[in-house]
Amino acid sequence: MSLLDYIDQERLPNHIAIIMDGNGRWATNKGFERGEGHKEGVRAISRVVEAATKASIKYLTLYAFSTENWNRPAEEVNGLMDLMVYAISEETEKLKKNGVRITCIGDMDRLPEYARTALIECIDQTKEGNTLTLNIALSYSSKWELTEAARRIADDVLNGVLNKEDISEETISMYLTTHGIPDPDLLIRTGGEQRISNFLLWQCAYAEFYFTEVYWPDFGEKDLYEAIIDFQGRERRFGKISEQIECNSTGSKPEKEQ
Ligand code: FPP
Repeated sequence: MSLLDYIDQERLPNHIAIIMDGNGRWATNKGFERGEGHKEGVRAISRVVEAATKASIKYLTLYAFSTENWNRPAEEVNGLMDLMVYAISEETEKLKKNGVRITCIGDMDRLPEYARTALIECIDQTKEGNTLTLNIALSYSSKWELTEAARRIADDVLNGVLNKEDISEETISMYLTTHGIPDPDLLIRTGGEQRISNFLLWQCAYAEFYFTEVYWPDFGEKDLYEAIIDFQGRERRFGKISEQIECNSTGSKPEKEQ
């Protein structure tokens, strides 16, 4: 019996977000260059996408490169960009075949031209996919995203497109890069740290957090399923008391309360 058999298909997290951490430490511990950890990290992405698809997860967001990661040594940043472009180009056909739709969130304008072009191509090639949406956070940070949203809301109010009085939580969500993607139900962070590092701060208001010591390059199907099973053991109250809870089948917050 596989761990997949222990997952309750009626109470799946609709959206799983992952902070993939520990590539550098994985490599250093083995006496390799940090870049080797990132390469192995790409293999872990492949495994996790396959496992998520098998478990019928609908949305998976991966934190691949944060706004703060631009401050890493140029050699590592360039290596990561090359690796991402290579992985995306290599995987596009397989993603398409498996019905995986790629979307991206983040400040695409900061990406080198060749990386942006490769991404746009992959997004276009996979746009019909309806098995899993694989959302890649690239040059992303929540504070950047919220600042951009505030600017655009201010512009729209000034231009008469939006009334100040009509601004609601739904309005804010609509101006975020994740517009159209449901909020994560489960946030996983690998690599032993227990923080959320400027990732989906607004969207994770009611997410369940799962931290594991496993370095990202070692993370695989078994680890993903363990996290889902742990999630399914939790009671999501959304501010209510136990007796009031009537979870819908995904364990997600009822729509009218989101
Ligand atoms: C965190 O580990 C990982 C990253 C900053 C990069 C993750 C990116 C990839 C695995 C490649 C993504 C590719 C595609 C196609 C999306 P770290 O370097 O911060 O590890 P450390 O904390 O051990 O130093």
